[in-house]
Amino acid sequence: MGINSDKVRVKVPGSTANLGPGFDTLGMALDLFTWIEMSTAAETRIHLLSDGMDGLPQDKTNLIYEVAQLVFDKAGVQHPELEISMYSDVPLTRGLGSSAAAIVGGLAAANALIGSPLSDDTLFQMATALEDHPDNVGASLFGGLVVAFWDGNRAEYIRVEPNEQLEVLVAIPHFQLSTEKARHVLPREQSLANAVFNVGHSSVLVAALCTGRLDMIPLAMKDALHQPYRAPLVPGLEQILAEATDHGALGVALSGAGPTMLALVDRSSSRKAELEGFLQGTLQAAGIEATLMWLQPALSGVQVLTHLDEGCTLFENIKGDVRA
Ligand code: HSE
Repeated sequence: MGINSDKVRVKVPGSTANLGPGFDTLGMALDLFTWIEMSTAAETRIHLLSDGMDGLPQDKTNLIYEVAQLVFDKAGVQHPELEISMYSDVPLTRGLGSSAAAIVGGLAAANALIGSPLSDDTLFQMATALEDHPDNVGASLFGGLVVAFWDGNRAEYIRVEPNEQLEVLVAIPHFQLSTEKARHVLPREQSLANAVFNVGHSSVLVAALCTGRLDMIPLAMKDALHQPYRAPLVPGLEQILAEATDHGALGVALSGAGPTMLALVDRSSSRKAELEGFLQGTLQAAGIEATLMWLQPALSGVQVLTHLDEGCTLFENIKGDVRA
């Protein structure tokens, strides 16, 4: 098998993981996107088109280049030199799945470049092994809500259509928090009481999301396994977790490993301004600058774009679609 296309472009959503009690388990795709263009070339070149990517490698240690090599290995294809361009609206290291989006986008682009010999399931297994958790990568691959587990060997998932009343307000602090640092503060062992708390709350939350029982979200969207330990890393989080439902949120959680905080909101709520004020005021009082953003669940996962003008650059093609 060889190269099938000269150039491919993909659009992949960012995501939130750990939706409340669903630690490493429950993810949702969001309408903040990363675009990747990949083509064969005489020599490898990487172009990072958006702001905030300073420091990301632009050589063969680039994550997207590296995951493409894994696809070529798996498919038994010779490794071509690649020209890769990336534009992303997903902020880095904030808990909105930027690395999962890059991994999924890189895998999907490389697979499309060689005629898509690898199945979605194979890409999911590869992405989970790379990211270490299935919730962000599952959401970026399949869109919607993804309920997943990984036993270290295989990941399994079920995709659930998000309730159409659900809207999302995120507060994105202006500081970065690496998943590694945020995992390091977690205890290696947990009590049976915490385990039972999360199994119960996560099970009821998933049932509520599947059946449209939005009234249950404020009761079920609570966590004992990671948020209490991570709260010291994110000033204001403790108060937001305790009080956001009194200010119009259906539920609130640390998004992924943080520092972004995410509120689920009923889109017909009349209290959106109150919730914005509460989040911004609480973070300001804690000395944290943050950007608030209203987001929608993204219903599609990664897509190979077919309608783009081959003669235009990646940015020219997507400029009507990006947020900046
Ligand atoms: N679930 C991971 C964590 C982050 O909380 O450490 C996203 O995969």
